[in-house]
Amino acid sequence: MTLLVLDTPELAQKYEDLGDKQFTHGKLLIADLAVKPGESVLDVGSGTGRLTEYVADIVGSQGVAVGIDPLPLRIDIAQQKLRPNLSFGIAPAEDLSQFADASFDVVYFNSVFHWLEDKHTALAEAARVLKPGGRLGISAASKERPHTLQGVVREVLSREPFNHYGEQGWDGPLFKLDVAETIALLNAAGFSVTSAEIKTFTDYFDAPQTVIDFSTSSSFGNFLGKLPAEAKHAAIEAIKIALEALHTPKGIELQRHVIFTIAVKN
Ligand SMILES: C[S@@+](CC[C@H](N)C(=O)[O-])C[C@H]1O[C@@H](n2cnc3c(N)ncnc32)[C@H](O)[C@@H]1O
Repeated sequence: MTLLVLDTPELAQKYEDLGDKQFTHGKLLIADLAVKPGESVLDVGSGTGRLTEYVADIVGSQGVAVGIDPLPLRIDIAQQKLRPNLSFGIAPAEDLSQFADASFDVVYFNSVFHWLEDKHTALAEAARVLKPGGRLGISAASKERPHTLQGVVREVLSREPFNHYGEQGWDGPLFKLDVAETIALLNAAGFSVTSAEIKTFTDYFDAPQTVIDFSTSSSFGNFLGKLPAEAKHAAIEAIKIALEALHTPKGIELQRHVIFTIAVKN
């Protein structure tokens, strides 16, 4: 849970304002899950709830959309989204005890799974709250194809003096899986995987600072979060210079590779 202590009201609001990338690929995940009117859907790690709100409109008045997240500041923003069939609560993926067994048609994790160290417990909880035959959707950063930004950060952190901080110079979500590992984990947790594929997204940012703001708010303060303040400041300045080199006429061009997995509870 130590990853969850660095969030601030400013970071939560920035995520709400800059989280378009997760929202855009989240809509693809919802399409892959074929969410239908009348269904009950749980969004695990909903953050500020933009995708949950979108799902509430799909399931309509006969369905329900519920979002949970362990960060209270993100849930505060989510709870400002008002729909009769939409609700939010504070909880981690590893403890869904507020929900009864077999209470959802669909459970999904959008840009959350790579943050979970204990994926076994999270999947056991997802399986428990899903109805038999219920669908699970996961979008998560791919271990086999690192993001462009990760390459930039790694290169900067390999330089003096950052190379002395070792593990503290952390540069991305910690618990990524590749496609084969994702499938094996889901099979072991009692799911049948129907599809698992990497989708690539090209993002354009207007300025290096926007990339830093996006990364810091998406990681709830964990982007370079373990570097001492002075080293962090210097590393960010070096990363911004390296990002300038990636400017194209459309903006700073960065690619992300996301594994989309759909599975059915056995
Ligand atoms: C990049 S944000 C994604 C938010 C949202 N799903 C979206 O698509 O915009 C990652 C989210 O994972 C959440 N998270 C981190 N650890 C978690 C855990 N153990 N259980 C559930 N959510 C967690 C964070 O609080 C954060 O809101």
